[in-house]
Amino acid sequence: MKRPARIAVLASGRGSNLQCLLDGIAGGQLDADIVGVFSDKPAAAALDKVPAALCWARSPKDFDSRDAFDAALGDAVAACKPDWIICAGYMRILGADFVQRFSGRLINIHPSLLPLHKGLHTHARAIEAGHAEHGASVHFVVPELDAGAVIAQARVPVLPGDTPETLAERVLGIEHPLLLASVQLLVSGRVAEQEGMIRLDGQSLLSPLRLDSAGTLSG
Ligand code: GAR
Repeated sequence: MKRPARIAVLASGRGSNLQCLLDGIAGGQLDADIVGVFSDKPAAAALDKVPAALCWARSPKDFDSRDAFDAALGDAVAACKPDWIICAGYMRILGADFVQRFSGRLINIHPSLLPLHKGLHTHARAIEAGHAEHGASVHFVVPELDAGAVIAQARVPVLPGDTPETLAERVLGIEHPLLLASVQLLVSGRVAEQEGMIRLDGQSLLSPLRLDSAGTLSG
């Protein structure tokens, strides 16, 4: 029988996306083990969700340079021999060396319909732009910020009177099933990235998969 995939999670904050992966594993929807949780914020609530023995958390301030922090993070991640590395609310930009070291198995969830609204403050920017829809994307990480091939997206309406906070809460509600379904596709070997294109069951996708109301991804 195939062994569960080994997943490392990078998280800087609350950890609700990490929790959804843990719940998916416990509920049999995700065939994986979380083998390490890594943070640039030693006080991150995400770290409380797994045993301390699985956690690595260091402040970048304790390192001489950005590269030195990334190298230490990379060595710690590599030591747990992950098949996949998932950035789930990891709020620090990863350097090109780190990204290249884990190229092809480094994934991020970003709270916008990429390529719209890369970077920070995505909810405020979606409201300001007057978009009718906003959402979240799961994508491969490349050195350019939020620019890698998008595996899947989920959408929510932007409602009259939305604030960045109300919209963020609505988006978070679809991030969890989106991340869970996307990671299960990855660990099952059905989705891969090739030369910047996403392939599902060997076929190139012309656009990202979409999450339906039943929590299923389809083309
Ligand atoms: C999520 O909304 C995630 O999409 C976002 O941070 C939040 C983390 O929530 N990530 C980014 O903005 C990355 N650029 P969580 O800690 O509860 O999972």
